[in-house]
Amino acid sequence: MRRIILKARPGATPLVGDFAIEEAPTPDPGANQLLVQTLFMSIDPYVRLSLDEMTIGDVPGLPLGQSPIGRAVARVVKSNHADFTPGDLIEGRSAWAEYAVVNPAVKPTKLDLGALPLSYAVGALGMPGQTAYAGMIDIGHVQPGETVVISAAAGAVGSMAGQIGKILGARVVGLAGGAVKCAAVEALGFDLCLDYKAPDFDKRLAAALPQGFQVYFENVGGDLSLKVIAYAAYGARMPLCGLIANYGQASETGPDRLPHFLRTAFVKGIGIKAFHGESVGGAHALAANRTWIEQGKLKPAESIIDGFERIPEAFEGTFRGNSHIGKVVVRIAA
Ligand SMILES: NC(=O)c1ccc[n+]([C@@H]2O[C@H](COP(=O)([O-])OP(=O)(O)OC[C@H]3O[C@@H](n4cnc5c(N)ncnc54)[C@H](OP(=O)(O)O)[C@@H]3O)[C@@H](O)[C@H]2O)c1
Repeated sequence: MRRIILKARPGATPLVGDFAIEEAPTPDPGANQLLVQTLFMSIDPYVRLSLDEMTIGDVPGLPLGQSPIGRAVARVVKSNHADFTPGDLIEGRSAWAEYAVVNPAVKPTKLDLGALPLSYAVGALGMPGQTAYAGMIDIGHVQPGETVVISAAAGAVGSMAGQIGKILGARVVGLAGGAVKCAAVEALGFDLCLDYKAPDFDKRLAAALPQGFQVYFENVGGDLSLKVIAYAAYGARMPLCGLIANYGQASETGPDRLPHFLRTAFVKGIGIKAFHGESVGGAHALAANRTWIEQGKLKPAESIIDGFERIPEAFEGTFRGNSHIGKVVVRIAA
């Protein structure tokens, strides 16, 4: 059989030359394992994350000489596991190879798609479809009438997310590279698709978002992201689905560490929500705090500094470090 191996660590953009195709013996499944024949291999940007020497933190990446692991639709050829029999169709993690050994411990799904195409199992009816749904509904909370911007709109996730946005009654603006892709995105029902590579993109983005956006479904990162977030309406949500522009640039050193920050936030699923405490907390926060103070459950810490002339000193100390505990207040005439 043939398999694809990682030959060299990719740079910012993975290249064909980073991989090699080689002949290899068809592997033998061990106890409780399956030998599967790959029918469809899903091409997913996240695989890039596993190709660095170290991924986020101290997790080692794929060793050189080994096959990347992607998502595949496959047919079971040989089964040493009671739950699977030869001929079963599955979707799951599998090596970039014509045949692979799959461990049912990584939970391959048995497929029953009826008359629908098998390939949907790694697309609309698989992980990308789940991602589009989750990002729009569970994370983005898209509401009717809201404006949603979706990057990589022509991709697996973006193309589904935009259509879900229309089902939800939102106005959906897609971003994709090139006029042909944009026309295809609009044909899927997006209200508008802007070519982010066009020279007049900045102007067209401004014109498309006169009142800004409520949701930015982020698939890309990089400069495009910085351009888009300038149009966020107050309180906008940004489901951070992916950062394809930054996958190869997650250096922990160097002048621009934003890609590293975003990639860490993405990989660790960090929920970032900026807020203005006064407006979000409102009167109910004050009432709750007062009750806790009166009940002795909350003990306000304060540092009182005497003397009007000490305002600048107190202010400076706030930034340079001070020995005060709690709220710093300068007593002037009380
Ligand atoms: N959070 C999750 O669970 C999850 C699940 C699936 C996918 N994702 C992420 O979601 C994003 C989209 O995934 P997908 O499966 O839809 O990918 P896809 O179908 O492979 O589409 C990727 C598209 O991204 C665009 N792109 C690539 N580099 C770009 C750059 N530097 N600037 C702007 N656009 C760029 C390209 O389209 P153009 O030709 O339009 O530039 C490319 O065709 C990726 O970041 C992926 O990692 C996350």
